Amino acid sequence: MDAIIVDNLSYRYQPSGEQILKNISFNIKQGESVAIFGLSGCGKSTLCLCLGGIIPHYLGGELTGRVQVSGKDIKDHKVAQLALEVGLVFQDPDTQLFLPTVEDEIAFAPENLCLPPEEVGRRVNDIINLLGLDDFRQRSPGQLSGGQKYLVALGAVLALEPGILVLDEVMAQLDSAGKRKIKNILFNLRCAGKTIVIVEHDQEIFSIADRILVLEEGALIRDGLASELLADEDFLTRHKLLF
Ligand SMILES: Nc1ncnc2c1ncn2[C@@H]1O[C@H](COP(=O)(O)OP(=O)(O)OP(=O)(O)O)[C@@H](O)[C@H]1O
Ligand SMILES: [Mg+2]
Repeated sequence: MDAIIVDNLSYRYQPSGEQILKNISFNIKQGESVAIFGLSGCGKSTLCLCLGGIIPHYLGGELTGRVQVSGKDIKDHKVAQLALEVGLVFQDPDTQLFLPTVEDEIAFAPENLCLPPEEVGRRVNDIINLLGLDDFRQRSPGQLSGGQKYLVALGAVLALEPGILVLDEVMAQLDSAGKRKIKNILFNLRCAGKTIVIVEHDQEIFSIADRILVLEEGALIRDGLASELLADEDFLTRHKLLF
């Protein structure tokens, strides 16, 4: 089954404004890992916001075409319902963190679902172990580094056990040890059967992506195997994507 179906998606933030996403179509199978790649401003974060339903539910604008996650059309379901299917971590995770401790952040969503306290406790412990956050459990997220905050925001979305993860610039704030760690975590999540969409400038991430989607000025200009794209220097040079 397809975890994500995007069919002829176009979007503008303001009805009379610039078209930011242009007739994008792709499908992602359950369990696939896909990287979204492209120059700054090409629409990667905007596409992520569509996958989580933040667009159009919170940001409005004009969306045409279809986006379906785990069989749910984003237009027909509230963001809270979509969050059970798609765990979206924003490019700036600060906007997702608002509670006094790391543990509170991770417990928040399952508590809101009124899950039994033992189940909430199990999820919190498992996630803290998976993400290696034990030393920060009682710390305030506001005092953590950018990379650590990203992990806490990831933990908070994992607590709803979504089948799909959409991670916008997961490596941006990490040093090389942090990058190794997140690659390991993503590898484990992929082995656990999660569908993973990663926006990334860092080519290191491509080693865990089955496919790469390349966006240019809001249009999808390539959809193919990571190994083939990386070997296609001509394409990368023409589109100024050599790194
Ligand atoms: N809230 C908004 N209102 C209007 N325009 C916006 C808004 N957010 C983003 N844009 C515009 O949409 C375009 C795509 O932005 P987006 O953030 O999706 O790009 P990106 O590929 O994620 O860039 P980056 O790599 O720098 O994060 C840009 O021209 C940006 O200025
Ligand atoms: Mg972005």
